[in-house]
Amino acid sequence: MDKTILITGGAGFIGSHLVRLFVNKYPNYKVVNLDKLTYAGNLANLSDIENAINYEFVKGDIVDADFINGLFRKHQFDAVIHLAAESHVDRSIEGPMDFVMTNIVGTANLLNAAKSLWQGDYTNKLFYHVSTDEVYGSLGEEGMFLETTPYDPRSPYSASKASSDHLVRAYHHTYGLPIVISNCSNNYGSHQFPEKLIPLFINNIKNNKPLPVYGKGENIRDWLWVEDHARAIDVIFHQGKNAETYNIGGHNEWTNIDLIKVICQVMDEKLGRAKGESEQLITYVTDRAGHDMRYAIDATKLKEELGWIPSLQFEEGIRNTIDWYLNNEEWLNNVTSGAYQNYYEQQYADR
Ligand code: NAD
Ligand code: TYD
Repeated sequence: MDKTILITGGAGFIGSHLVRLFVNKYPNYKVVNLDKLTYAGNLANLSDIENAINYEFVKGDIVDADFINGLFRKHQFDAVIHLAAESHVDRSIEGPMDFVMTNIVGTANLLNAAKSLWQGDYTNKLFYHVSTDEVYGSLGEEGMFLETTPYDPRSPYSASKASSDHLVRAYHHTYGLPIVISNCSNNYGSHQFPEKLIPLFINNIKNNKPLPVYGKGENIRDWLWVEDHARAIDVIFHQGKNAETYNIGGHNEWTNIDLIKVICQVMDEKLGRAKGESEQLITYVTDRAGHDMRYAIDATKLKEELGWIPSLQFEEGIRNTIDWYLNNEEWLNNVTSGAYQNYYEQQYADR
């Protein structure tokens, strides 16, 4: 094997797409997937590659420093691609401390383990931190996030991700650790846990449940197909410059309500319902506390310096995504049984 790479959070939504890409595309890399398997992690996401010879799964918690140090000593990693995180804004509002522990302390543990294993010999070593555009805060009607936009996180989730970004940069400046960071906009696609907008609404439409639109539905998000995010990480991992930040986005802004109407229209078609039937499920509910108004990424640097552009147009991507959730009923039923029901009732009861 040419390299041993640690991917953290590989059983989650984006991580599973990245692990699949790397295991299939790079047979000469050993990929170790470390994941705690929280409610958001699911090994069924990787059943197609679980027996690959260049793949190993390890269950563990990045908050456990002794365990992490032992894992680095055992596998002698050449590189880390760090995705493990608590990732849902609404959960961070209900319970910020899991976010502080996993996203901040967990990232610090990984940085310490890499620093201690590599001992200042950084030849062909890399710590790649996967972050979010939410660290930049909230935009008004104009402008886009650039790599140089000052940080202004507003939710416990985005504040914990911003803290982890700062730690990663600090380990570069202080100890010379080779790092890259990418900040991506909202992802959509297969295998996303149905607490996030798109899979939640697909599932609710399918089950004729209300579609809880926060506030007036006027907030804007910039949506990127998850496999394009994984491709961007691949490009940045191999060609990105040491200590640089790259924004990743699809130039694909939608107000929530317009996006929801598109999902409703496609679902009517797919389920053989009358036109407009699913839209009747739209229910306006109390807004999210501190709800960021608009995110929009300027990904020019990634395009001009590393040649990455999104491969899939949104109209096609959202249809593929809806098809995937409708064709993978067992996956959806498995992740929405048990604890999911309690979460759902608690989250939406008072809205
Ligand atoms: P996810 O919630 O689907 O997956 C997170 C994974 O991390 C899960 O498999 C979970 O089990 C694992 N995990 C959580 N805590 C852990 C711990 N303490 N130790 C080990 N593993 C742990 O998240 P996602 O949407 O796939 O996001 C992955 C990364 O990408 C995150 O860092 C997130 O901030 C970032 N990101 C996400 C988006 C998005 O739209 N989803 C956009 C930009 C950036
Ligand atoms: P989400 O998928 O949670 O991503 P993020 O908050 O990280 O952008 O939410 C996307 C948008 O959809 C956001 O503006 C909040 C809104 N939203 C709803 O209106 N209703 C919901 O039930 C959820 C989960 C989100």
